[in-house]
Amino acid sequence: MNSVTVSALKQYVDQEVELKGWLYNRRGSGKLLFLQFRDGTGVVQVVVSKKDVPEEVFETAKRIGYESSIIVRGKVTKDDRSALGVEVQGSAVEVIQEVHDYPIQITEDVPNIDKLLDLRHLWVRSKRPHAILKVRSEVVQAIRDFYYERDFVLYDAPIFTPASCEGVSTLFEVPYFEETGYLTQSGQLYGETGAMAFGKVVVFGPTFRAEKSKTRRHLTEFWMVEPEVAFLELDGIMDLAEQQIQYVVGRALDKCKAELKELERDTSVLEQVVKPFPRIHYEEAQKVLQQLKSEFAKSDDPEKVKLSGDILKNGLGDDLGAADETALGMHYKQCICIHHYPREVKAFYMKADPTGKYAMGVDVIAPEGVGEIIGGGQREDSLEVLEAQIKKHNVPPESVSWYVDLRKYGSVPHGGFGMGVERCVQWITGCQHVREAIPFPRTIYRLTP
Ligand code: 4AD
Ligand code: MG
Repeated sequence: MNSVTVSALKQYVDQEVELKGWLYNRRGSGKLLFLQFRDGTGVVQVVVSKKDVPEEVFETAKRIGYESSIIVRGKVTKDDRSALGVEVQGSAVEVIQEVHDYPIQITEDVPNIDKLLDLRHLWVRSKRPHAILKVRSEVVQAIRDFYYERDFVLYDAPIFTPASCEGVSTLFEVPYFEETGYLTQSGQLYGETGAMAFGKVVVFGPTFRAEKSKTRRHLTEFWMVEPEVAFLELDGIMDLAEQQIQYVVGRALDKCKAELKELERDTSVLEQVVKPFPRIHYEEAQKVLQQLKSEFAKSDDPEKVKLSGDILKNGLGDDLGAADETALGMHYKQCICIHHYPREVKAFYMKADPTGKYAMGVDVIAPEGVGEIIGGGQREDSLEVLEAQIKKHNVPPESVSWYVDLRKYGSVPHGGFGMGVERCVQWITGCQHVREAIPFPRTIYRLTP
C-alpha cells in the first residue's frame, strides 16, 4: 500500500493508501463519522462508515480525541465539494497515541490570542497559524531568490556587536566575558563593509530591539533583510525597495493562494502593488497629513476621527508616528516611499542632503494600517561629516572606529535598506498583529514558549 501525504492524494484516486498524521476534527453520527485528518501538508476528510468497517475500527474512530496521532488506511475517492477534490473512505485507523485533553478548541481563534500564544507550541498545528507560517516561508524564499537572481552576495553580520546602530534606547545588553556586548539591532554597518568588498551584498538574519511598548507592530526579536550597494544613491535605493516588494508580494499571490484563501485575505489590495510607488518628500507628507487631519475630523468613521486626533501628535518636524503612517496608507491605498526626513530624527549614519536640513533616508509605508515595512537610505560618505555625527549622537568612537575606516579607505556614495520580515508577512496575510507572523514571538511580556 502507498504511504502518501495529503498534498499528493489527488494522484491516487481509486487507490488504497496509508496516511500518517493526527486527528484534527470530527463530525458525525452513530453510523457515519467524518474525520478531519491532518498530516502537515493538508487536511483531508476520512469517512468511516459503521457498516463497512470492523466494529473496533469504528469505535476507535469515534473515541479518540483531537490530536491523537494515527495511521489511517483507505481508498481515495473523488469529491468535488471539498477544496482538495478528494476524500478517503477509511477502512482502518491505527492509534499511535490516544489523546483526550487537547487544550485548544478548533473554534478558538485570535480573540484569544494571549491564551493561544501561551500554547503556541501546539497552536501552530491549527489552520490559521499554519497558513500564516507557510506564507512566511514563501516570503523568505522569495527574498532569497530576489537577491540571488540579482547577483547579491549573502553576507552574514554578527549578532554580538560592540555598538548600537539604531539608538541606545532599544539596546539589549549582554555580558561578554570582560566586556559589555549588545545584540544586533541591524546588520547595516557590517553590510556597508560588504558593499565596499563585493559591490552588492545582502544581510539576512535575526535582529533585536528592547522595545518597551506593546504595539501591534513591534517585536523584540525579528528578522530583517538588508541589502547594501556601493554607488547606489537615494533614487536607486527606492527603485530596489519597490522591485523587492513587488517581487515578494507577487510570489505570495502566486504560490500561497490556498493559504490566503484560508485567511480570508482580500488580495485585491496586494494585486494593486505595482511600482512605481508614490515618492513623497517629508514636507509634502506633512501637508497631506494636515489635510487628512481636518478631513478625518469631519468623518463619521470612528477610526478616522480617532486618527485625526492622533495625527501629528508628535508635532511637526518629528519622525512619523503610527497614526500618521496609518492615515497616509489609507489615503494612498498603495505602498508609498517617504523620503528626506528631518536630519535630527534619523540615525547618525544617514547622509545629509545638500541643505544639511534633511537626511537622505526613505521609509516605505504599507497600506492597511501596517505602516513602515522598510527603513533605509543613503549613508553619510564624508569622513568629516560622519565623525561630527558620531560625536553629536554620543556614539562611543572606539566602538565604531572600524566603521569610520570605510570613509578613510575608498569611500563612495552607497546605501541600502532594511525590511522587517514579520511586518511584511503581517501585511501580506492581513493579520492584525505582527506576533502571528513569526513561529515564536518575543515581546516585552513574552519569552515563552
Ligand atoms: O527602520 P529601521 O530601524 O532601519 C534600520 O534598522 C536600518 N539600519 C536598516 C538598513 O538600512 N539596513 O528598521 C528597518 C525595518 C522597519 O522598517 C521594520 O520593518 C522592521 O525593520 N522593524 C521591526 N519589525 C518588528 N519589530 C520591531 N520592533 C521592528 N523594528 C524595526
Ligand atoms: Mg525606521
